[in-house]
Amino acid sequence: MIEKIRKVREQARQEISSAKDSSSLDELRIKYLGRKQGVITNFMKKLPGLSSEEKREAGQKLNFLKNEITQGLLERSIQLEKAKTKSQDLLDISLPGIRPSVGNTHPVNRMISDLSEALVRLGFDILEGPEVESEYYNFSALNIPLEHPSRDVFDTFYVDLPREKQFRRLLRSHTSPMQIRVMEKLKPPLAVAVPGRVYRPEKPDASHSFMFHQMEGFMVDRDIRFSHLKGVLDFLAKHIFGSKSKTRFRPHFFPFTEPSVEVDVSCIICGGKKKTCPVCKGKGWLEILGAGMIHPNVFKAVGYPKGKFTGFAFGLGIERMVMLKYGVQDIRLFFENDLRFLEQV
Ligand code: PHE
Repeated sequence: MIEKIRKVREQARQEISSAKDSSSLDELRIKYLGRKQGVITNFMKKLPGLSSEEKREAGQKLNFLKNEITQGLLERSIQLEKAKTKSQDLLDISLPGIRPSVGNTHPVNRMISDLSEALVRLGFDILEGPEVESEYYNFSALNIPLEHPSRDVFDTFYVDLPREKQFRRLLRSHTSPMQIRVMEKLKPPLAVAVPGRVYRPEKPDASHSFMFHQMEGFMVDRDIRFSHLKGVLDFLAKHIFGSKSKTRFRPHFFPFTEPSVEVDVSCIICGGKKKTCPVCKGKGWLEILGAGMIHPNVFKAVGYPKGKFTGFAFGLGIERMVMLKYGVQDIRLFFENDLRFLEQV
């Protein structure tokens, strides 16, 4: 009998610890502690047939086992209850979800894409060029004379020291050198657009940055006229600022275009109707870019036969376009990487 009780104890422990839920615990309670047919009760019923010594030992062991099973069932049910609330904690469907943070296109890249999309539709190819340029491509080949102020060390970042070489390396101050690089390699008809970074030694303030982005565009063929330039730029302005936008061309000067113009777009805030408009200051127009017909000396520099081709070129500041379109007041915001700014576009 003592041996049998030991085996039952073993079995009960094992069954209780592997019980998976409260209903199997209930079954075990009935199996072991049931008043009528429980294992313990059945043992108790056999006690009277034992010798008095065996009776005492078996009786003690059975009482002990009964308490042990009761305790075991209680502990296991607490354990199961804890595990249940824990898994519910992990999946509380009443909690609001955690919003995943999704990246954004930087407003500068967004503007480059928007402009590129319009230009590709007009048949332009998009190319990129080196940011470390030669003085030759940045100035000389573009008909910019040696005494031109933009060549000064205060207006261009030179990589090489003065007179170290005939043409020093520098950080390009505009994207126009790509006109030369492309025309040196390819013959007309050409329609190319070049987005990219440019550098100028400027003290940073709300409207100046020592690095910014430009988009260059040029088209060369046998009979490209100023009217083509007007058509392309008007299309671009409407694509970026809306179909109601108008463009205005004012005479200007660039060494590498003749005639040269500055182009304005009608004020996107007041449409030119408000004398007190804070954006255009009542002028009704906003300057957006420089352009013109490519100078014969530029064609000469790339070895195109004299008088055979004509073409136009334009260059615009990307940040300026974004600032006008979205009313950004400070160019430094583009480069501070503050998500509160970047997530708005
Ligand atoms: N390269 C000029 C600038 O940076 C812009 C320009 C480009 C003007 C092409 C005329 C033609 O200001």
